[in-house]
Amino acid sequence: MRILGIETSFDDTGVAVYDSKLGLLINEIRHQDKIHSKYGGVVPELAFREYIYQVAPLVQYVIKKKNISFNSIDGIAYTAGPGLSGSLLIGSAISCALAYAGEIPVIPVNHMEGHLLSPMIENNNMKFPFIGLLVSGKHTQLINACKFGQYEILGQTLDDAVGEVFDKIAHALHLGYPGGYALSKFAQKGNLGNFVFPKPMKCSLNFNFSFSGLKTFTLNLIRRYINNMQALYDIACEFEYTIFDILIYKAIQALQMTGYTRLVVAGGVSANYKFISLLKNKIGLDNIELYFPSINFCTDNAAMIAYVGMMHLKLNTYIKRKNIFIDPKWSIDNIVK
Ligand code: KG4
Ligand code: ZN
Repeated sequence: MRILGIETSFDDTGVAVYDSKLGLLINEIRHQDKIHSKYGGVVPELAFREYIYQVAPLVQYVIKKKNISFNSIDGIAYTAGPGLSGSLLIGSAISCALAYAGEIPVIPVNHMEGHLLSPMIENNNMKFPFIGLLVSGKHTQLINACKFGQYEILGQTLDDAVGEVFDKIAHALHLGYPGGYALSKFAQKGNLGNFVFPKPMKCSLNFNFSFSGLKTFTLNLIRRYINNMQALYDIACEFEYTIFDILIYKAIQALQMTGYTRLVVAGGVSANYKFISLLKNKIGLDNIELYFPSINFCTDNAAMIAYVGMMHLKLNTYIKRKNIFIDPKWSIDNIVK
């Protein structure tokens, strides 16, 4: 089975082809960072206008580059949500048109299910059930993944997502957009222990998170120490550690509550190597198997959409609609309709 995947949830354009026997044949991504960086965040109107120019040419490029015959494609998987409605509409319209022309199924894929299962693209050993810790630009969620397609949200952020907070702090430090990677590099020059940070909701008796207070606290410190470079490095370092400490603590609690022995960490922030090494230190001690995607599959990509689309087509668990289907607020606990 061979699936063409199209990812257009927010501002990146991804196109990939996944083959159930040969694995991932090609995975291409085009960014719009230059367009949005001067605004410190994505401008929806500009994002979807750019998609109009990016998506169809990228599909053509992918097909040509690998000399893939369109007749060999068994289905088109596309991101149907969550995301920006304008962005989702461009990807879904092109996907439906391609599927209609090729008389093949079109498979709407939930973007967060894509992230959750992204380690499986390269690792056949990853099995259900597991706890998923999704850390992206728009989501921070702890998931009880009982079996394929069946996910329970144990807890989530009540305000800002982790990636979003990284981006806001990076913006205050003039590190560009998106700023997660740049902030992490900046923090490498800092030391822990020079500032005391609050750890909101770390010990709350549920699996929810809250990061907006921590964001304001950090922004205030940055303003106060704006002329002291070493203090800024230290603040970034302590900020990063505090966030990771809260996330890991709650993930361990979720593992203990369910008795599961597998933890999957995915989404853009899982590209942070300090996060992964902290996880390895803390989780490894408890004999928990840790899974995370390789670096190309941490941030938004179409390989994860093609892979999850293939699984839904194989198991016939995908949503079938006569009309174009998108849901900008599509929740991961409502996958199989
Ligand atoms: O999953 P993703 O590509 O998009 C969403 O679905 O939201 O995640 C993007 C987020 C951005 O906020 C970006 O700053 C963050 O992931 N990110 C990082 C790192 N690389 C990307 N955050 C911290 N450390 C990194 N190395
Ligand atoms: Zn994403």
